[in-house]
Amino acid sequence: MLTTNQEKTMDTLSARTKVGVQDCVLLEDYKSMQAFVDNLQKRFREDLIYTYIGPVLISVNPYRTLNIYNDRIVALYQNVGFYEVPPHIYAIANTAYRSIVTEFRDQCVLISGESGAGKTEATKKILHYIAASCPHTVKVDQVKKRLLQSNPILEAFGNAKTTRNDNSSRFGKYMDIQFSIKGHPVGGHILNYLLEKSRIVNQTTGERNFHIFYQLLASGDRKLLDHLRLHKDPNSYAILCKGQCISVNTIDDAAEFGEMRKAMEICEIKESDQMELFTVVAAVMHLGNMKFASERGGSADVMNKVPVEIVSQLLGCKEEKLLRGLLNRTIDVRGEKVVTPLTKEQAIHARDALAKGIYDRLFSWLVKRINDSLGAKEDEEVKPVMGLLDIYGFEVFLHNSFEQFCINYCNEKLQQLFITLTLKSEQDEYINEGIEWEPVQFFNNKIICDLIDAKPVGIMAILDEECLRPGDATDFTFLEKLADTFGTHPHFVCHATAEYQIRRTLKQDEFRILHYAGDVTYKLRGFMDKNNDLLFRNLKEVISESKNRVSSDCFPKEEICADNKKRPVTAGSQFRTSLAELMDILMSKQPCYVRCIKPNNNKRAYTFDERLVRHQVTYLGLLENVRLRRAGFAYRRPYEVFFRRYKCLSKETWPVFHGTARHGTQLLVKYLPMKEDDFRLGETKIFIRLPETLFAIEDVLQESRNRFASIIQCCFRAYYYRQKFLKMKWAAVIIAAHWRSYLARQELKRRKRAALCIRKFVKGFINRHNELCPENKAFIHHMRINYIRRLRDRLPTSFLDDAWPPTHPFMETTARLLQKMHRKNLIRKYCLQLKKDRKRMRQLEQKLIAHELFKGNKEGYENSIPEPFRTSRLSKSQEIMLNNVFIANVKQRKEAIRYVSQVLKYNRNGYGSRRRILVVTDKASYILSRYNYKLRDKIFHKNLKAITTSELSDDFFVLHTNSSERNNNRIYNKGDIILRSGHVIEAIVKIAVAAKKLRAVEIAREGSITHNMINGKQGLIEFIRGSKHHVTIGKAGELRVVAPTGYTSDREAIYI
Ligand SMILES: Nc1ncnc2c1ncn2[C@@H]1O[C@H](COP(=O)(O)OP(=O)(O)OP(=O)(O)O)[C@@H](O)[C@H]1O
Ligand SMILES: [Mg+2]
Repeated sequence: MLTTNQEKTMDTLSARTKVGVQDCVLLEDYKSMQAFVDNLQKRFREDLIYTYIGPVLISVNPYRTLNIYNDRIVALYQNVGFYEVPPHIYAIANTAYRSIVTEFRDQCVLISGESGAGKTEATKKILHYIAASCPHTVKVDQVKKRLLQSNPILEAFGNAKTTRNDNSSRFGKYMDIQFSIKGHPVGGHILNYLLEKSRIVNQTTGERNFHIFYQLLASGDRKLLDHLRLHKDPNSYAILCKGQCISVNTIDDAAEFGEMRKAMEICEIKESDQMELFTVVAAVMHLGNMKFASERGGSADVMNKVPVEIVSQLLGCKEEKLLRGLLNRTIDVRGEKVVTPLTKEQAIHARDALAKGIYDRLFSWLVKRINDSLGAKEDEEVKPVMGLLDIYGFEVFLHNSFEQFCINYCNEKLQQLFITLTLKSEQDEYINEGIEWEPVQFFNNKIICDLIDAKPVGIMAILDEECLRPGDATDFTFLEKLADTFGTHPHFVCHATAEYQIRRTLKQDEFRILHYAGDVTYKLRGFMDKNNDLLFRNLKEVISESKNRVSSDCFPKEEICADNKKRPVTAGSQFRTSLAELMDILMSKQPCYVRCIKPNNNKRAYTFDERLVRHQVTYLGLLENVRLRRAGFAYRRPYEVFFRRYKCLSKETWPVFHGTARHGTQLLVKYLPMKEDDFRLGETKIFIRLPETLFAIEDVLQESRNRFASIIQCCFRAYYYRQKFLKMKWAAVIIAAHWRSYLARQELKRRKRAALCIRKFVKGFINRHNELCPENKAFIHHMRINYIRRLRDRLPTSFLDDAWPPTHPFMETTARLLQKMHRKNLIRKYCLQLKKDRKRMRQLEQKLIAHELFKGNKEGYENSIPEPFRTSRLSKSQEIMLNNVFIANVKQRKEAIRYVSQVLKYNRNGYGSRRRILVVTDKASYILSRYNYKLRDKIFHKNLKAITTSELSDDFFVLHTNSSERNNNRIYNKGDIILRSGHVIEAIVKIAVAAKKLRAVEIAREGSITHNMINGKQGLIEFIRGSKHHVTIGKAGELRVVAPTGYTSDREAIYI
């Protein structure tokens, strides 16, 4: 899904792509060179530097910064089809990356073009795209950083300003980016090819040595320069100013030095290693300052010893030994060492060889260190790689030497690879696969490659032969041999064999090769030496003993020991072998192509030199490429691969198909979104004409993959949750089993306990009557508890209740104690309750008084106990009368009635009985007529002398007075009052209490009571125990009362 921003960018890009055609295959006049170049030029003018020929990207160097390399543009090219977006280097990177992620196929991006065409820049853009588009994690970011930062380091040491390019790669570089299974970059590896080391000691006019020398001097780090004994002026160093070009306005050496040092940190090159590295670089500079003079005998000597001293000091080697090595050559002659002094030229040569040797190895050491920091960790399973090839481009200088020969040979090989993989093999394939095909003619540069590297008769082989053969082989003998061998070769020209016209343009010491990209004339001088790459053994020895770790690492002692025994490998054959290996690497990967074109030779922006571009288009074979694309098929795959990928798109082939892949593909194509003309079925492969068709198939695949993904997801979820469910179910079963077993165990315990308990109980029951012993202890204990429990519900509720639940003999004592306690408790409760109830309290007090007075003193007292004392024994109507008469008339206001009852009053004279009402107040006792409630008698309490009663069960009592009562001037002194009450005990107690004269109560013990009558006479009442109660008058006029034991008062007779 594109965001709005991306859509906007896309729109502007698309609008601009209307300039010309973005794929040259779409050119109307596709066979015309003019149309092709015009298209490139039109687009170049609009800053559209990229154009396609099918999947091949043509990039024209703009020589200025374009705003087309930023994160926004990266996002635009992510996850989109190749043809859905305008041509861009990012599209190439994305295609390669997507193939890695989806197909896990190794990829390589082949970037070719001549020097200054923009190969290195293109590599950097691809790296930038990979870094920006891959996901960010700490680990991946670290790898990305290192991959990116390897560039400034290698460029500093391996790039130089040439007349063709201010930042020309002077070495070949093949970088592998390693990806994890998730498509994250996890590491990398760099292979370096033949550094142009002659540049160390010599540069042609307008060129510089490697950037690092100038960067180091421009660093402005005084301390560092002092330490390296360097002076900041490059002119002080012979090897830096041979080209008379110290500063370049497009290069900021100081800034680049800073950037390079930061990069070194990121690539884990420690500060100490950096110092050693710079020391070696400084040593090379000082080495270049050594000058030699010719002595009289012809042998050489140093003119200035200072550089020797500095070099030996910097490298930590012996000055003398170094000097000896530079001035002499030691040869082993049959076990003996023979020392030969060198001539001045030889010494210079030795010096230069040493400088070149040291720097060359230093560069390889650096690559190794970067590789160490880039290397994928061992635990990572390294998946596919993306190879980026950035090699020095084809170059033609005024003077071309061995290095240019190698560089151009390398470019021939790359062109050959390109031809093999695109033009030739493609056409061969159509023919082999039986596809109808009209061949496209193209120039195959294999003939030039063979001229150079064929064995045994290639230029390189002849050069090796000359270098290794004994005798006086020189550059000229080598040329002679070349002339002999290739005199008639269409691509080789030399002075000896050339036609007259050509001979005029060629010197004696030159030969020319007609390369695919142009004719190059090579200077013969130095070919042999450079191929021999000779560094004297004694010089190597000196450096191997160096205290500087970097330089001693570069010249390991083992190598020097082994040096004598093996035949030296020439630089040429070394390069040839490494190139062959590189070709194998590239052939094993799926290639993407970027063809860089240089628009002018002056590094100028906005300048499009049509002639120059036409030349490049010609030699790169781009027109042939277009023709092939027009006639050919954009996509092909072996049936197995194609069928495996797309078989899920047809019901006939999915999910199971037993036929061959070819048969399957035949069935499958019917279901794919393509017409008959869109594809061809070959012998072993299917060919699809247009990429759009493939994209349409891919879309269908993607759609069905989503569908399959959801089916797989469903199935997996079902499986996952079923497993989870089964696990839970199993867990539930286990828990239930454990729970049941736990319950069963608990039950068992319970039953065991119960059985034991029952057994104990039975035993205890059997022994229950025995003394307390172990057998009955529990039983007894149980019985006790049980007894206590039962007792709780059956306790007497009143302290009057003597009943107590039956008790086991063992509990006798306890029971008694409990009974006592319980009774006390009940009483206590009762008392507490009483305190609150004043009425009852009074009642009880009076009962107590009755108890004290009559207990054991008067028969029948016991019968009165249960019946509570009352304040009134009157009926309702009587009480109304009492109210109306007595209370209204007789009672004084403050007088309080204490007791009222009906009584029988016996006259003192004659003992006739009358029904009366007894009213006791707190002042006096009144006797009222029961008829009209008029006052008959009144005894003030203060006059009450005694209250007597008999000891028998009769209901008589006498109120004795000691003075006359005066009321309304009437004196009531009629003598003592004889009364009979249905509640005699109650009546006596009430009067005694009201009168506060308890001591006045007397029990007549003699069986008679004497009472006073009016006028001082005395009467007698006799109490006799008899069988039947009756009251009579005795012979002597006394009152005789017969009372049987257990008599209860005849209340009816009294109250009615
Ligand atoms: N895409 C680009 N955008 C802007 N400038 C570019 C671009 N490509 C190349 N250049 C300019 O061209 C110069 C040369 O490019 P580069 O170093 O990549 O060439 P090269 O092909 O690697 O050459 P050589 O073979 O000499 O190493 C760069 O320094 C840069 O200034
Ligand atoms: Mg380059």
